[in-house]
Amino acid sequence: MSSTKYRSHSASEVNESLVDQTVTIAGWIDRLRNHGGVAFVDIRDASGLIQVVIYDENVARPLHSEDVLQVTGVVRKRPEGEENADILTGTIEIVADTVTVLSNSATLPFQVSTELENKGELDLPNEDLRLKYRYLDLRRPSMHANLLTRSNMSKAARAVLDNLGFTEVETPTLIKSTPEGARDFLVPARLVPGSWYALPQSPQLLKQLLMVGGVERYYQLARCYRDEDFRADRQPEFTQFDMEMAYVGQEDIMKVAEQVIQAVWKSAGYEVTLPINRISWTDAMNYYGSDKPDLRFDNKLVDLTDFFANTPFRVFQQQYVGAVVYKGGASLPRRQFDAWQEWARQRGAKGLAYITFKDGELRGPVAKNISEEERAGIMDAVHAEDGDAVFFAAGKKRSSQELLGAVRVEIAKRQGLLDPHEFAFTWVVDFPLFKQANDPDDDDVAVGHSQWTSEHHPFTMPSEEWLDTFDTDPEHAMSDSYDIVCNGNEIGGGSVRIHRDDIQKRVFNVLGITQEEANEKFGFLLEAFKYGAPPHAGLAFGWDRCAQLLTATDSIREVIAFPKSGGGKDPLTLAPAPITDLQRKETGVDYQPDDDEE
Ligand code: AMO
Ligand code: AMP
Repeated sequence: MSSTKYRSHSASEVNESLVDQTVTIAGWIDRLRNHGGVAFVDIRDASGLIQVVIYDENVARPLHSEDVLQVTGVVRKRPEGEENADILTGTIEIVADTVTVLSNSATLPFQVSTELENKGELDLPNEDLRLKYRYLDLRRPSMHANLLTRSNMSKAARAVLDNLGFTEVETPTLIKSTPEGARDFLVPARLVPGSWYALPQSPQLLKQLLMVGGVERYYQLARCYRDEDFRADRQPEFTQFDMEMAYVGQEDIMKVAEQVIQAVWKSAGYEVTLPINRISWTDAMNYYGSDKPDLRFDNKLVDLTDFFANTPFRVFQQQYVGAVVYKGGASLPRRQFDAWQEWARQRGAKGLAYITFKDGELRGPVAKNISEEERAGIMDAVHAEDGDAVFFAAGKKRSSQELLGAVRVEIAKRQGLLDPHEFAFTWVVDFPLFKQANDPDDDDVAVGHSQWTSEHHPFTMPSEEWLDTFDTDPEHAMSDSYDIVCNGNEIGGGSVRIHRDDIQKRVFNVLGITQEEANEKFGFLLEAFKYGAPPHAGLAFGWDRCAQLLTATDSIREVIAFPKSGGGKDPLTLAPAPITDLQRKETGVDYQPDDDEE
């Protein structure tokens, strides 16, 4: 199948059935061992490695690592004892007849040899250098494997939705702003000086318009753009597997999404049992201190607010006190507990109180501060045993729970409980409709001007029991939205949408978006809803995050061919870059409205 103008076989297709036959292969020199008189050259192509033997010293001498060769020769079995069990073609080799250098390689800035990588002897440089020479970095089979996993995921997901009668539709990327809580990337419009396109934060509004347009079942592998701060699980441009359906409710979407998950995980060799568990947002926060709980292990948080209601300990006289147990933690040395304090402070916490329980005795700085009665009951209250340590957080409920949630994961990490090849999925459901707009710990951009902003996005339907009262009690109002979470990562999210303009207007009102602003920003959507909008709902998977999980890599940058590094920079093309004076003028980036009058 691989036979082309340049080769008869790919490296891995050459096998023992071809012994004594002539083949032509092409690829890079992965490794070169020249023994004077005989040279062994490992040739690498996308399929793998094969050893070529060159007896002509004049041919072998000028060759360098990473030169691109074309070799024609006869396949033979390797002499006994010379086999290489590490590679597919390890029992054979090609004795070169003709060697053509298709392209010379300069000395690489870092090694990419498969042989070294297989042996664990490859010394990768820092990530910026890898990204600067990404095309070399990609020569490594592990990077190929990541891209292949991702490609297989997309095929599997497409197949599921194609079978269910979905239509793949492309939506534009030069659009008007769609609010998903981040800042927009903007593109100046040369033809309309002073005007700007926004790149979509997601296809959200466009897919809703497709529902009004009667598409009914839409999906797209959509590129999304968000000007956010840099993190391991975020990129300024990233991919969603995005879908939307008309005449459906939450259950219908979840069912389809589960089929997608099952097929996608299967494409990488993993079985997922359906249906996927559900947990309410409130329980997720109370038990796991996170709206994206890692459920590969249990160890729930314990709410001790009532237990410490009358405590004499000043630090615990707070809105909320909670705890998490560190099994076997009592035997950790003191300096490790000091390091935990530092760890907590770096996360913005005031501290991280702890007690150890050993040989029937409570120890640690907190033990002496709490009452006799509290000392007697605390270990039972948190279900700890002799030999355990307990961490406490006191303060505002949400931030204290989040601190304990992070402690819970950190303990599991240190105990080696986080197997990247084990997948624990859960739906998180029953989210609040709104959240505080001015939360300093949250870098989402508020969509309006009130104290409230959307927990999901402004087009999310209040849940049925809140339809009448969501605007009179925004603090407690719940929504019909859902996230899909895997191993502590939010890998997707969606909601039932508002399809009635009266409800949409009331939501805008709570968010502090005036009628005028609403018209200016989303007038086209509100207008569309006047002409008969079917009830609809949807979801988008974060495709990079799914790929990261399936490849067990530690950053989404490992599953993106050309990702951005810190600060949104691309070390390869050096984007973003300054523009020329002419470009400034032409694109109108400095345009002032009164320029026209000159
Ligand atoms: P949301 O904003 O939750 O929902 O995005 C959907 C999923 O996309 C992934 N994601 C990201 N991945 C990488 N880098 C980023 N900067 C980034 N931001 C988000 C996450 C997330 O779960 N329009 C709605 C979907 C809907 O309601 O249908 C939306 O965009 O995995
Ligand atoms: P202090 O009395 O402030 O020295 O604190 C006593 C212990 O409580 C120390 O171990 C602090 O790290 C810890 N601590 C302080 N504030 C909090 C808090 N809000 N939640 C949990 N522990 C805290």
